[in-house]
Amino acid sequence: MSTQKDHLERQNRKLSILYDIALTVGKSLELKEILDDVLEKVLAFMRARSGVIYTIDYETLDMVPVTYRNLSDELVTDLTKNKVKLGECMCGNIAQFDHEVVILKNASADPRFTRESARKEGMDFYAGLPIKAKGKVVGVLCVISHSPYDLDEDLLDVLRAATLPIGLAIENALLFETARKEADHLKHKDFEGIIASSRKMLDILTMVRKIINVPSSILICGESGTGKELVARAIHFNSLQRERTFLAINCAALPENLLESEMFGYVKGAFTGANANKKGLLEAAEGGTLFLDELEAMSKALQVKLLRFLQDRTFYKVGDTRPVTVDVRVIAATNRDLQEEVRAGRFREDLYYRLNVIRVDLPALRDRREDIPPLIKYFISKFNKKFCKSVKRVSKEALQAAMNYEWPGNVRELENSIERAMVMAESEELRLSDLPAEIAAASASGLDWSMDKVEKEHILKVLDIAGGSRKKAALLLNLDTTTLWRKLKKYSNWGK
Ligand SMILES: Nc1ncnc2c1ncn2[C@@H]1O[C@H](COP(=O)(O)OP(=O)(O)OP(=O)(O)O)[C@@H](O)[C@H]1O
Ligand SMILES: [Mg+2]
Repeated sequence: MSTQKDHLERQNRKLSILYDIALTVGKSLELKEILDDVLEKVLAFMRARSGVIYTIDYETLDMVPVTYRNLSDELVTDLTKNKVKLGECMCGNIAQFDHEVVILKNASADPRFTRESARKEGMDFYAGLPIKAKGKVVGVLCVISHSPYDLDEDLLDVLRAATLPIGLAIENALLFETARKEADHLKHKDFEGIIASSRKMLDILTMVRKIINVPSSILICGESGTGKELVARAIHFNSLQRERTFLAINCAALPENLLESEMFGYVKGAFTGANANKKGLLEAAEGGTLFLDELEAMSKALQVKLLRFLQDRTFYKVGDTRPVTVDVRVIAATNRDLQEEVRAGRFREDLYYRLNVIRVDLPALRDRREDIPPLIKYFISKFNKKFCKSVKRVSKEALQAAMNYEWPGNVRELENSIERAMVMAESEELRLSDLPAEIAAASASGLDWSMDKVEKEHILKVLDIAGGSRKKAALLLNLDTTTLWRKLKKYSNWGK
């Protein structure tokens, strides 16, 4: 009697977790909220302490740990800061090959954990289950125990079933997020030519939109090639002054006196060679925008003159004593840390504070890797037109290399690399070999982690032990000879 009751209770518990999860996933569209809740329930059901749920970002090929419980700080920092790539380490492989992994004892010692942080985690039990939606892996659910764990196979079966509603929830939430991003994109539709997909860049565009018609000067900071001039132009050409002039000058490109006379103009006789009065850029840009690039290169004497102009819109031409007043908005850009320049005594503090009121910070491309795939797509279509080509896509390896690379030259370097690759490309696909060598080299770190690579190394080692005999090797590997032959053939095509 009591065993029947036990049995019923167990059945009840199993059904209730499925029901509970189905309810949870319908409650919200916020992915993190749902998955937090789901993980909590799954761990209680499995009577395990620790776990992670990853989703997969197919644009960046990142495994995103959306929620986790009771993992060491070191592992969490590693997983969140240096995201595991699809195909890398254990969870990346579960996702890539859509296969479940259950390790009953001493899990951290399993060689499939290639990350140092996972090996040091001291996991004893590990179950990693692919989460699917419409036949595609959209995430991985991991249940972990750091101490000996008695697995109940029945519960594992239920957990497998539970991955279905979780998959649907992930799919829905991602669709919702895409729709939300698209709505944001539409809002920024008029920022033509600025590709932005990362949250960081979308937030910056939202901020830029707010300052478009504020008459104050603006400081744009960012490493070289992050798009400072592009943003400055977007501000001007979306403002009420868009019909007026936009002029740009690079403060690093001219010696001090030339920069002064270019900016402020001069009167006849001001210096040898000043044969007539000349208007400066400030006057020429009346009613519009003057863009001062590489501002940090401006001499301190000129900085004083610029500060005066910013304060009361008035300046003196070189050699003149009559003040000139113009209405020009100044947008300055720098790729230096201006505060540091102030500290080092190279930049005036008062000018810095004057400019720093409205400031746009453009992040380095390596800090917003989500923008890489859409930028590549954009540059491909740009250069298809320029070179009359019909490149349609990027190979997975080439994309992976682009995602791994550090891009010290930021978007400009990416643009130049795609331009070069398009010249090299002989098919409809941009391949790894079309990319500049230093970028192609970045692919190795991504690919080396893959299970395929481990398998290849293992097979080649066994083949070596078997003295090159495929028959013996197949026997040792517990594979049939055709399978081994097929795998060897695949390896010989790798890297082509
Ligand atoms: N978000 C973006 N979308 C599309 N193209 C971009 C984007 N950001 C930059 N670019 C392109 O990258 C190149 C470099 O941009 P830009 O000249 O604006 O950079 P910068 O920050 O002014 O660089 P530098 O400090 O070297 O002057 C340009 O060709 C620009 O069109
Ligand atoms: Mg520039």
